[in-house]
Amino acid sequence: MTNHSRGASKPSRPSSPHPPRRRTGPARPPVEDPARLAALETLRAVRQRDAYANLVLPQLLRERRITGRDAALATELTYGTSRAQGLLDAVIESCSDRPLSEVDGSALDALRLGAYQLLRTRIPSHAAVASTVDLVRAERGSGIAGFVNAVLRRVAAQDEAAWVDELAPDPETDPVGNLAFTHAHPRWIAQAFAEALGSREEPLKRALEADDARPAVHLVARPGEVSADELAAITGGDVAPYSPYGVHLEAGAGDPGDLEPVRERLAHVQDEGSQLCALALTRAPIEGTDDRWLDLCAGPGGKAALLAALVGLEGGELIAVEKAPHRAELVRKLTSGLPVTVHVADGLETDFVEGAFDRVLVDAPCTGLGALRRRPEARWRRQPADVGTLTKLQRELLTEALRLVRPGGVVAYVVCSPHLSETVGVVTDVAARTGAEVLDTREFFPGVPDLGEGPHVQLWPHLHGTDAMFCLVLRRPV
Ligand SMILES: C[S@@+](CC[C@H](N)C(=O)[O-])C[C@H]1O[C@@H](n2cnc3c(N)ncnc32)[C@H](O)[C@@H]1O
Repeated sequence: MTNHSRGASKPSRPSSPHPPRRRTGPARPPVEDPARLAALETLRAVRQRDAYANLVLPQLLRERRITGRDAALATELTYGTSRAQGLLDAVIESCSDRPLSEVDGSALDALRLGAYQLLRTRIPSHAAVASTVDLVRAERGSGIAGFVNAVLRRVAAQDEAAWVDELAPDPETDPVGNLAFTHAHPRWIAQAFAEALGSREEPLKRALEADDARPAVHLVARPGEVSADELAAITGGDVAPYSPYGVHLEAGAGDPGDLEPVRERLAHVQDEGSQLCALALTRAPIEGTDDRWLDLCAGPGGKAALLAALVGLEGGELIAVEKAPHRAELVRKLTSGLPVTVHVADGLETDFVEGAFDRVLVDAPCTGLGALRRRPEARWRRQPADVGTLTKLQRELLTEALRLVRPGGVVAYVVCSPHLSETVGVVTDVAARTGAEVLDTREFFPGVPDLGEGPHVQLWPHLHGTDAMFCLVLRRPV
């Protein structure tokens, strides 16, 4: 949402900021603005120590007992600022008398917070500038506050659409760059989306737009414990359109961890796309035994909990492997009471015998480009170089899964990314080398529209309301 009308003629920009003036008088008392202070401190933690906004902020809110409207404002400002960082930085840089690399880190956090309020919220400009400058003055004094004030006044001179017009690459010569800038994504990520969608135009625009919006929280009802209808009634949510166990909560509905069914392990938070991919593994027909399932990359355990509940209903068991001990512990917690054995091990070096399992899930470590909407700062942190390292591991894990599944059994390869190197690239290569049979995975997503030509399934936020999950089911030949 912009606070000025779009398409307004561009106002001329105020003159360059004055050099910072030193404040000589006594320091001002601290400001009473818990929401913006929490947002600013979270942004700082993300910048300084690579923290995750969605872990730092809830903890700060709890510690400081920030609730209600203040908590909602802090959340909106923190996540919104983090998502839009690249766009905000381009605007800030064009309003500053120095390159961003020379701007003091804490001033930059405040500038991003202020620019976000100016360009993407309905907060009146004077309030956005004054509240941000007050925070900086209380923490860092008048010199830096003066600089922040001057830059933000220049940012406020026009709305987001006008800034995009002025700063985005030309849509004629660089359509992907233009859309990436407009929807606050790094160019390489927009390019990866374009390649997966086979489009640089309307579908890409819709994908980036949906990826830039605040997503609803999805819950999964534990099979055998509670139905999606019952869970929706208890939580006030809506039954999900595709997953028989899914419920969608309203965006901004508060901390789902506080919901009684979640506390009592009748449900857990899980994107509907993740539910569908786990279910796809269970829906592929197999002949013979079907009671030993393996989750080769299980942490933190969302899919393991759903799979274990399902195999448990049939008297079977799930073996969950996770390399990182702290994530294995999360699997243990989430699956307690279910027929699961958790192994802390490298999935490439387990001591399971070949062909020990009927079904295997490889939910491989990936760039996470498909879940950027749920991880506010991730899009600016991920680098193109991450892809190569991950695809090597993905190929190895899928190959190992095909060794551990019995002849006739099935493997689901899942990543939370639409990047073609991590998706089609990996499965094509491994299927060719192992001789595994590729199944038309669309059949295991009944009722889900817009699945393309197969055989794989690529879900999208703009088409399915899910994260951009990829899934392909393969069968080990008999
Ligand atoms: C995409 S996450 C899995 C998400 C999980 N299936 C869920 O639904 O909650 C990938 C996991 O694989 C783990 N991992 C990475 N390398 C691994 C390896 N060589 N063997 C086993 N697990 C590994 C990571 O620590 C991470 O927890």
